[in-house]
Amino acid sequence: MRSSTRCGAAAVVLLLVLALWSAVAAQSKMPKLPAPYQFAQTGDSPGKVTFNHASHVDESAPSCTSCHPKAFSILKAGAAADGKPVTHAAMEKGQACGACHDGKKSFGFDDCTLCHRSQ
Ligand code: HEC
Ligand code: HEC
Ligand code: HEC
Repeated sequence: MRSSTRCGAAAVVLLLVLALWSAVAAQSKMPKLPAPYQFAQTGDSPGKVTFNHASHVDESAPSCTSCHPKAFSILKAGAAADGKPVTHAAMEKGQACGACHDGKKSFGFDDCTLCHRSQ
């Protein structure tokens, strides 16, 4: 009786250690995300746009393929899939940020200040 209780306790401890270890291992598998990227301000842009990987990647289920390489080049910082700068003309056709920022999957282009920040 007593030895089976001790055995059970040991199994629980082992499970906890395994869970902790796999959590740490999963974290180290998470690729290091690029730092926030400030786009070069083009045309009559109402303010600088900063893209933040940290707010777009779910660390518990990181997925890079929702954006790379279909929406954005991974080879050229701040470039759309075709290697060219991001434009509203392209975004309105559902490319680049417009793949999600369409007012349905995520906020759209009504409030400029959500992306264009002045300072
Ligand atoms: C929501 C869309 C989105 C997701 C998801 C995403 N990225 Fe990006 N990525 C971008 C955008 C936009 C750029 C261009 C701005 C920049 O360079 O940071 C970029 C650029 C990059 C670059 C090249 C430029 C740089 O700044 O070094 C690398 C490397 C990169 N991403 C890696 C990743 C990895 C790894 C993941 C998955 C863990 C990922 N990205 C997921 C949108 C995304
Ligand atoms: C794969 C889909 C996807 C793409 C592509 C995408 N976003 Fe987002 N973005 C989201 C979601 C989802 C949120 C969370 C807010 C929400 O639910 O509306 C968000 C939030 C944001 C926020 C608010 C949080 C923060 O980081 O300040 C900004 C700003 C933003 N996105 C800018 C951009 C820009 C600029 C691009 C293109 C360079 C872009 N996003 C591309 C899905 C996307
Ligand atoms: C989902 C994010 C997002 C929102 C919201 C947004 N923009 Fe932009 N915009 C961008 C990005 C990314 C660029 C490219 C970088 C730059 O030029 O600043 C850009 C560029 C621009 C440009 C110059 C290039 C072009 O395509 O014309 C203008 C003008 C502009 N935005 C106006 C606006 C106005 C006006 C609003 C509000 C009605 C708005 N934007 C809302 C992301 C956004």
